[in-house]
Amino acid sequence: MKRHLIAILFAVFPVLALASEGGPLFKANIDVSDKQSLQRGARLFVNYCLSCHSARFQRYNRMARDLGLSDSQVIQNLMFAADKIYEHMTVAMPREEAKEWFGAPPPDLTLIARRRGPDWLYTYLLTFYEDDKRPFGVNNWRFPNVSMPHVLWELQGIQKPVYKTEKDAEGHEHMVIERLQLVKKGKLTPEQYQSAVRDLVAFLAYMGEPVQLERQRIGFWVLLYLVVFAVLSYLLKKEYWKDVH
Ligand code: HEC
Repeated sequence: MKRHLIAILFAVFPVLALASEGGPLFKANIDVSDKQSLQRGARLFVNYCLSCHSARFQRYNRMARDLGLSDSQVIQNLMFAADKIYEHMTVAMPREEAKEWFGAPPPDLTLIARRRGPDWLYTYLLTFYEDDKRPFGVNNWRFPNVSMPHVLWELQGIQKPVYKTEKDAEGHEHMVIERLQLVKKGKLTPEQYQSAVRDLVAFLAYMGEPVQLERQRIGFWVLLYLVVFAVLSYLLKKEYWKDVH
């Protein structure tokens, strides 16, 4: 009975099922108003992700404007897969072939931060681990049996899982991952890698909703206006009522 109830709950709230995917969810703590962070994230994105994933709703020139870069800076440093600054961030890899190579096509990433959320993405990029049973020799704690290789392994290094035994509701014992341990150092220290992934996730979050930068900017002026307006109307009220008493 209890199990049926849980099954129904999962069917009704698929989010719960998603949440049980595996492993902890780390806090991304991104700051999309930090232009430097977005610029570093964009650099990682074009260097490490754009070869397989597109961002086909994002134009290079819009990115330049939003991130505080000039067109020529973008052309020189961030544009390897396109010729014209007004083009979208697409990839040359045909979708069908990609599906054949990887078993699953690499999805477009323009809106991925809206679908998964920054914390999920941050955790995903931190939790690849060595697993000989998988085609690329890696698995992922957050997204079990994912068919993406760990493209940032040179930066992060290689992690191996440390297991513990856990009893399920019926008393059966299972081996589950307790934590991931770095067994081969990467070019970056763990702190530097976390910070790089934070930049990358901030960039993905920006792409998912470019107007959020504008909203923050406008929001500041709206609040300032309200404060000034409140002060003025208070003074005005005092002035009007001065002679009434
Ligand atoms: C070598 C090709 C390749 C590269 C490079 C690559 N990916 Fe992937 N990625 C894939 C494939 C294939 C999948 C589909 C995995 C699946 O569904 O099992 C995927 C899936 C994903 C997903 C999960 C999407 C979902 O279903 O929710 C995310 C997020 C992601 N990639 C982000 C990135 C980021 C960020 C980078 C750059 C650091 C990157 N990928 C680089 C091939 C790649």
